[in-house]
Parts: sequence; structure tokens; C-alpha cells
Amino acid sequence: MSAAADWVLVQATRWLRPRRSPLVLMYWAQSVRLPRLLLQVQRSTVLWMFDIERARADTPGASRVAHLNNAGAALPPSQVTEAVIAHLRRESELGGYEAASAAADHVDRTYAAIAELIGCERDEVAVVENATRAWDMAFYALSFKPGDRILTCNAEYASNVIAFLQVAARTGAVVEVVDDDEHGQLSVADLRRRLDDRVGEVKLIAITHVPTQGGLVNPAEEVGVLARAAGVPYLLDACQSVGQLPVDVTRIGCDLLSATGRKFLRGPRGTGFLYVRRSILDTLEPPLLDLHAATWTAPDRYVLRADARRFENWEANYAAKIGLGVAIDYALSWGLDAIERRVTGLARALRERLTAVNGVTVHDQGQRRCGIVTFTVDGVPAEEVKLRLTERGVNTHVSRTSSAQLDMPRRGLSEIVRASVHYYNTDGELDQLIDALPSARPGS
Ligand SMILES: Cc1ncc(COP(=O)(O)O)c(C=O)c1O
Repeated sequence: MSAAADWVLVQATRWLRPRRSPLVLMYWAQSVRLPRLLLQVQRSTVLWMFDIERARADTPGASRVAHLNNAGAALPPSQVTEAVIAHLRRESELGGYEAASAAADHVDRTYAAIAELIGCERDEVAVVENATRAWDMAFYALSFKPGDRILTCNAEYASNVIAFLQVAARTGAVVEVVDDDEHGQLSVADLRRRLDDRVGEVKLIAITHVPTQGGLVNPAEEVGVLARAAGVPYLLDACQSVGQLPVDVTRIGCDLLSATGRKFLRGPRGTGFLYVRRSILDTLEPPLLDLHAATWTAPDRYVLRADARRFENWEANYAAKIGLGVAIDYALSWGLDAIERRVTGLARALRERLTAVNGVTVHDQGQRRCGIVTFTVDGVPAEEVKLRLTERGVNTHVSRTSSAQLDMPRRGLSEIVRASVHYYNTDGELDQLIDALPSARPGS
């Protein structure tokens, strides 16, 4: 989006804001009997318009740095920081256990907010320390025997693949990587073929929705259709997609989903969650148990919790947990469709500008793309590009082969610069990145 378009949006939003919410506007439109079509246009315009001024005013860090490392950890809105600090203060004044009781409603809200965000029930949610712990609790709850097959994708997250390799070595299970299609995303046709192959029982489909090292969005819904038809459990790593795209577990059809708080959700560090479809809960034995996950009912017996919180443990960072709920409510207040539109628009603009720079190559794949943009500059090591950008006030990240052994070497890549946008970024910040790029070094 151009600077002029940004300006028009800000002015339009300023005009609309004192005239109250989109609902009031729609009521107004109906009451003056505007034609239906106009109402629809108005509805989508209201969704499309993003109050950048408000987003940035809520984000203190946005005035200090061009933060294009949202796939690492986004800048939190002040509402989140305030909620975390308020609970730490409560703890210091009341005592930790007493503060947790006093804030029970806020803690409960976190579960309700997650349920609302991903379209599930509250008892299908476990809040844990990060996405990896969430994913591990689900994966290690499954049992495998020799010859059982685990189907995954080239974009799978490093920690997940390490876990596959460990379990394969322990149990004799086999890990198969589904081919990519011509767009560089998981090939649904190849997945179908592998599911039809009767050489061994497919015990799990586990894929990553959006990889850490690129802008592609894997076709998670199509995978869900095949997983359901085959009756195979489906574990989705949605760590990089939750918060930047609408993610609905019913539409996707996954049985298990892991996500983190600090990335596109803009929550506190050290937070994450696991979704467990109720219908498969009782088939899963958590790999770790404590007196929160289970009740000790007799000296030699225990009973597992009846809900997904059997994947949690007792002690938790309550301030962070409350902050996660506030971050999700904040995201919901913008609307995930509107967030996706804004984020993908900025990312598209950044890719276009990078492509126009001599010696710069953009590496993102996939039919549908998100807010993660990856690139290299000819002859300039990725770390050097990142340092140069940091010196000029632009935060980015470097992804290396060690995070993507299944993906980057195949594409002839050993390191790439990752710039990941969020809705509070501006067009001007994209230009700041472009202006700060080092020149390509010829002959490389
Ligand atoms: C795709 C993907 N999955 C999982 C993770 C792990 O998330 P966490 O650090 O919250 O455990 C990451 C982190 O970058 C990721 O990019």
C-alpha cells in the first residue's frame, strides 16, 4: 500500500471513529435504506480499514524501532504489558496464591479467549509455556510401534522433526516427508497417495501451517479433509499462523494444534497453548503428569483430568497467562480477517520492493502467502544484512539450515534474512528497510 493510501485510510478512520462503531454505521446505513450492495461494500470497507494510528499508539515500541521481527516475537500492545504488570503487582501485594484467586476471572478469560480465537470449547484448551511444549505434550502422548508411519512436510519445524527422529529411533516408527507441489507447499495429491498406500499404518499426520523460514501457508484445510477421511490423527503446528491469519480448528479439521503467545498474537514471552479435540482426548496419555493433570485418588491410583488441562502442569506464570488472554482479546478486537488483509498487504508490498532491488532475491513460496518475507542479497552474508538493518533501526532475523534441514538445502539455501510484518508496521517502515539494505557484491 502506498504512503498516500495509508494517509487516506488514516483520514477516513479519523472521520469514522467519532461516528462510533462499525455496528452503529451499519445501523445508520440500514436506517437510511441504502441499497444492500452499498451496505456490503461499507461492511468490507470497515473491515479493510485499519486504524494504524490506534495500533501504533497502543504499541510503545513502534515509535522506537521498525520492528520487522514479528515471527520472532512481536511488540506487545500496552494493554498486554499493563495486564502483566498489574498481576505482578497483585502478587507482590497479596501473595501469589491469593493473587491467582483474586484474578480467577482473568485467568478463566484466557481459556475462553483461546476458544473464541480458534473456534473450540474451553475444555479443549491447555495453556502451557510455549508452542514446543504444547506440541511435545501432544506428540509424545501418542504411541507408535515398528512400521507405524508419521507423515510430515518439508516445512516442518526443527524441534518437531527432532522429536520424530527420537521416537522413530525408539519405536521403529517411520517418518515420511510428503512431497511439495509446484508452488513449494505440501502436495495434497502426494499426501493422498501416501494415505492410500497400504505399506503400513499411518499413525499421524503432523505438519506446520506456516514455517519459521518462509511466507508460505500450507493447505491445512485440504490436509484436514484427507486426515478425517482416513481416520488419522492430525497435529498442526500453528505457531506462526495463529494471530496473523484466521485459524479455526473446525474448518481445518485438525485434532491437535499448538501455538505460541509471543509471535503474531503479541502476547508475553513464555506462553503457548495446545488444542485437543474432545473426541480424541481419552485416547491420549500425557507424557508427563502431576497433581494438576491427574488426581491422586488412593495410594496406588490416580485419575486423569477429564479436560485438556491434563496437558498442563500445576505451577504457572499467572501474569503471563493473563497477558496471553488480553493479547488474544486485543487481536479479536481488530478481527483476524482484517489482520490478515493488512499483514498480507504489507508483506506483498515488501516482496515487490525487494524484488525491484538489484541483487536481492525473494525466497517465499506457496500459493497463499503470509506476513513472513525472506530474501538474500547477492554476495552479502545474511547476518551482515541483518546487522546493517539493525544499525539503521530495522529489526529482522536470520533463518539457517539448522532450523530447516528438510527445506533450505533442497532450495540451495543455507541462510536467509527474514523480515516479518505485523499490522502496526507502516509503508514507511518497509521503505526504511529497502533504503538500509547493503548493496549486492558482484561476482558471487
Ligand atoms: C513453526 C514453528 N513452530 C514452533 C515454534 C516453537 O515455538 P516456541 O518457541 O514458542 O516453542 C516456532 C518458533 O519459532 C516456529 O516457528
